[in-house]
Amino acid sequence: MAALQLPNDPMTDPSAEELIALRPWLKHDAMNGLLLDGVPLAGIADEVGTPTWVYSAETMRSRYKALAGAMADAGLAVHIHYAVKANDSRAVLSLFATQGAGADVVSGGELLKARRASFPASNIVYSGVGKSPAELSLALREDIGQINVESAEELDMLSALATAQNRTARVALRVNPDVDAGTNDKITTGRATDKFGIPYSDAIALYAVAASLPGIQPIGLATHIGSQILDIAPYRNAFARIAQLVHALREKGHRIETVDCGGGLGIPYRNDPSPSPAALAAAMKQTFHGLDVRLAIEPGRWLVGPAGLLLASVVLVKRTALDPFIVLDAAMNDLVRPAMYDAWHGIVPIAAKDAVAPARLFSVVGPVCESGDTFARSRSLPTLAAGARVAILDAGAYGAVMSSTYNARPLAAEVWVDQCRWSTIRDRQSIEEQWARERLPT
Ligand code: LLP
Repeated sequence: MAALQLPNDPMTDPSAEELIALRPWLKHDAMNGLLLDGVPLAGIADEVGTPTWVYSAETMRSRYKALAGAMADAGLAVHIHYAVKANDSRAVLSLFATQGAGADVVSGGELLKARRASFPASNIVYSGVGKSPAELSLALREDIGQINVESAEELDMLSALATAQNRTARVALRVNPDVDAGTNDKITTGRATDKFGIPYSDAIALYAVAASLPGIQPIGLATHIGSQILDIAPYRNAFARIAQLVHALREKGHRIETVDCGGGLGIPYRNDPSPSPAALAAAMKQTFHGLDVRLAIEPGRWLVGPAGLLLASVVLVKRTALDPFIVLDAAMNDLVRPAMYDAWHGIVPIAAKDAVAPARLFSVVGPVCESGDTFARSRSLPTLAAGARVAILDAGAYGAVMSSTYNARPLAAEVWVDQCRWSTIRDRQSIEEQWARERLPT
């Protein structure tokens, strides 16, 4: 199923003013144009160039506090493990480590980044269907808090490695609840046909196996049904299925200390209705309250998505018989979400004069040699001149992390805005850096 939204419909698209109104970290200033936390984006583009990712530290902090607050208000002591995959910039990791978050990692690389960003090993959870022996060994050496095992085969591998290293792995079984999260097909993870998790009907037997294996200490269950979830009902269904398992396993005498509820909370890219952390907390409370388990979540997008934007410049406007093309200097190699998931991102002009100019419909594209390199179709925008800047909104999650150097395009710069000041946290990549690890054959 496509994401719960029509990808391109100028009749229902929110206007730039409506997009800005719902994002208090953005403001349009009559003199300086679009500001992020009071910092003119035009000034950043002048100094650093474009394309450039720009992040609001304060937005990340306040979203973390809002999420933690919603859980606390519901009377739940929930451990928040930031999903590193959403944005693994050092600055972002260090921000969440400082807030006291744990980390959810899916590779040895993410585990190392999380450790170097000072997440305590005990607050790291490791998920993924294909953890290699080297990655599992690293997790054991680091003695991380929890490994979410996703198959019987992985459980055997982990037991052998842990025994050889004379260690004990704290294991949660990641269970596939066979629930459709109703999100984009490519980011749905909790249906029986998806590669993730242990089939629901195998979970009880596998828990008993885990309890009997050397080097394994089963501590509970985990689930994650998908990403950009805009409806609480699938969460409720998944949680109910997991709670049933907790009861069934306890009846068999197993200890269930923890339930990891995964990530997935969606954000309103198109100002569409999206669930609040309070609604997620209520669903968790309804199902797990009184069950005496340590609850955890693994949010990524909700924390960082709205806090980032991709700053781009117009290369030229190409006129055709149909909608003209606004060709940007940012492309699918920078932000792949529109090409990959038909994702809708707000596109807002930066300059004050562009904000008030009359609008018409455009296609917004990048320079990469693929027709999929399209950020938007039939998008209502003012006629922008070459050199005009735009911000592609809500690009803080699954933006920079999914970039490539396709078409020999350098990885974009990254800028951090905090308390009305800004600094570059990653320089734009050079061609020398792209070639640094290559050599001609001998
Ligand atoms: N936990 C696990 C096990 C996950 O696989 C994911 C995301 C998360 C947590 C965090 O989910 P979030 O709260 O960010 O929704 N590239 C796609 C999204 C892929 C999500 C992969 N897993 C996109 O741009 O929409």
